Amino acid sequence: MEFITERKAESGVARVVFNDSDVDEVVRTASGERELSFGIGKHPDMTRRKLMLLMRRIVKTAKEKKIAKLTLNFDDLFFPKLKISSGELAELFAVNALMANFAFTHFKTEPKEGFPDVGTVFIENAKTKEIRRGLERGKIIGEEVNWSRRISNMPGGDMTPAILAEHAKRAVRDLPVKLTILNETALQKMKMGGVLAVGKGSKEKPKFIILEYSGGKKKEAPVVLIGKGVTFDTGGINLKPSDAILGMNMDMSGGAAVIHVVAAAARLKLKKNIVALIPAVENMPSGESYRPGDIIRSMSGKMIEVQNTDAEGRIILADALTYAERYHPKLVIDVATLTGAAMVALGERAAALFTQDEKLELKLRHMGEAVGDFVWPLPLWDEYDAEIESDFGDIANIGNTRWGGAITAAAFLKQFVNGYKWVHFDIAPRMTAVKGEHLSKGAAGAIIRLLVRFLQD
Ligand code: BES
Ligand code: MN
Ligand code: ZN
Repeated sequence: MEFITERKAESGVARVVFNDSDVDEVVRTASGERELSFGIGKHPDMTRRKLMLLMRRIVKTAKEKKIAKLTLNFDDLFFPKLKISSGELAELFAVNALMANFAFTHFKTEPKEGFPDVGTVFIENAKTKEIRRGLERGKIIGEEVNWSRRISNMPGGDMTPAILAEHAKRAVRDLPVKLTILNETALQKMKMGGVLAVGKGSKEKPKFIILEYSGGKKKEAPVVLIGKGVTFDTGGINLKPSDAILGMNMDMSGGAAVIHVVAAAARLKLKKNIVALIPAVENMPSGESYRPGDIIRSMSGKMIEVQNTDAEGRIILADALTYAERYHPKLVIDVATLTGAAMVALGERAAALFTQDEKLELKLRHMGEAVGDFVWPLPLWDEYDAEIESDFGDIANIGNTRWGGAITAAAFLKQFVNGYKWVHFDIAPRMTAVKGEHLSKGAAGAIIRLLVRFLQD
């Protein structure tokens, strides 16, 4: 999708206008031009959330009507009450337009006329530098979000740990990002017992993907991002039931997100040092799988009693949290489709946010609200630690009651946090897009917008 601001739209391009009813309609004007009129209610009722949805609705509707070129007046997007600067408004428009334009068509036969796609948007009155820069920033972020959605949507057989590593390479090709891929032998040397144990049951060997972007001062401590990269989660020997297994190709969404946050940061030339760590494994049942009851030595030395092989994400993240120590990070943020329990708690409209830093919690919540990546806090109190006590090891990988599974998972991760400030996002609730979001089916591309905004500030 490209945005054209320096010249007028060609004739025959559909014009986007708004009306204050609540019905959308397509009309033909006297000049024969097609007009897409969107009912947006009364101006005073506009909210930031509604505006973002409107931006997507425009593109989604155009696609449905097989319209490939649009034109709109930038001033029409401006609602004074919302107090959004023109640069930010432009960024929001670009991100949301791109996100709405995306569909996962990789395995579909292309129709003769091509897949519906809004290729060009002419924007009138987008004269200032701020607006143009906003559009550029938004385009970069939107492209990275869509890339992450594409790879998250890939079937498990087409997105193995090795392929994910290859993809990471491609994502940062031509960018000043250093890429390191640790293979199984390297993992053994590093004593990453958690990653190795979870990966054991699969023919596909585990990988540990490291991306390093140094946009900041040499001595400045980096922010380390960790993404869960389970390329397919069958549950392992604690095999998931059929309806729960489908969709588990997306269990590497956290990994995809952090890869593309680094790519976006590099493209935006952020003046920050950022590292991304992605432990990538396939969780499979086989004669070589790790078993319920196995006690494994994590990289930290802590012994993990595996009470359920389906609670695999936290085991691989534990090693990544330990590996992060070597960077002396000022902050570590992990992103993981970690628990169904987070979905029970929050539904599908907010990712769960865990941190013991109240200021950071508020900041992230507000930033999420601003960019449309909604997050909501859950507690990280030490009292929960009692629920992951282990009889025969140091720590159990599941809680000893049925309750608060998202919280006990976070409490587990907390045991491996050592010497840095830490934030955990359980993005299971936001793994797939839901109705009403005006996004195509499949991966939602959560948390990238929020992390980019956070790193930018
Ligand atoms: N990847 C799943 C969590 C998940 C479920 C993500 C649904 C997205 C949608 C995770 O590895 C898992 O299996 N968690 C278990 C933990 C349980 C065994 C303690 C769960 O949530 O059931
Ligand atoms: Mn699992
Ligand atoms: Zn999982």
